Amino acid sequence: MAAKAIKIAVIISSTRKPRVGPSITKWVTSIIAPSAPSHAAIETVDIADYPLPLSPSGPVIPAKITTPGVPVPKGAYGDAQVDAWSEKIAEFNGFIFVTPQYNWSIPAVLKVSLDHLFFEWLGKPVVIVSYGGRGGGKAAAALKEIWAGVRGGEVAGAVELPITLGMDLAQSKGELHEGQAAAWEKDGKAKGIEEAFTRLVTVLEGKA
Ligand SMILES: Cc1cc2nc3c(=O)[nH]c(=O)nc-3n(C[C@H](O)[C@H](O)[C@H](O)COP(=O)(O)O)c2cc1C
Repeated sequence: MAAKAIKIAVIISSTRKPRVGPSITKWVTSIIAPSAPSHAAIETVDIADYPLPLSPSGPVIPAKITTPGVPVPKGAYGDAQVDAWSEKIAEFNGFIFVTPQYNWSIPAVLKVSLDHLFFEWLGKPVVIVSYGGRGGGKAAAALKEIWAGVRGGEVAGAVELPITLGMDLAQSKGELHEGQAAAWEKDGKAKGIEEAFTRLVTVLEGKA
């Protein structure tokens, strides 16, 4: 029997101009793509393409917009931007967040993107790839807490990427230093991402 198709989003979680998030996400995707089974589709989702109101609003909070097992109805949020974000995220079975650390947590824009939805995240497994001067471990820890709050599924893995080369370049030009990816590979970060991704797929295939 053919394996069930699965869809995984790799989410660029910063929106700063300039930002290094897209370059790091590209590197992450280059690691996981070759090991993805043929029934797994990987898509990059950039939260910058889904601008949202600063806060959820209205009388019905996202956790009450539907009930488990019943898809969120089209237009349920009554806001074109939130409805577009909801429809996009509902497409996926699992997620890989590539997030920087901002002041010991995740970027506010990522928190807002998470808060606007609930059922679209519910029970779905996730991998967290954080980055920052020391690897963004506090952002990853914060995201794990929030993920539990939105009743997300298993955290299949978390990998911290310390920007040890060219932090100035990352901040001021949004560029990854040419030696950084090789340094991460040497430190086993690529292997860590591969293992986390394999676990994510295993969970999605119901074999965990
Ligand atoms: C508001 C802000 C807060 C930051 N806080 C941290 C921090 O707590 N720890 C850290 O290692 N780097 C911190 N940084 C540096 C970021 O790791 C670095 O700027 C990185 O390029 C941010 O990712 P981005 O370019 O995708 O936005 C911070 C950067 C910004 C803009």
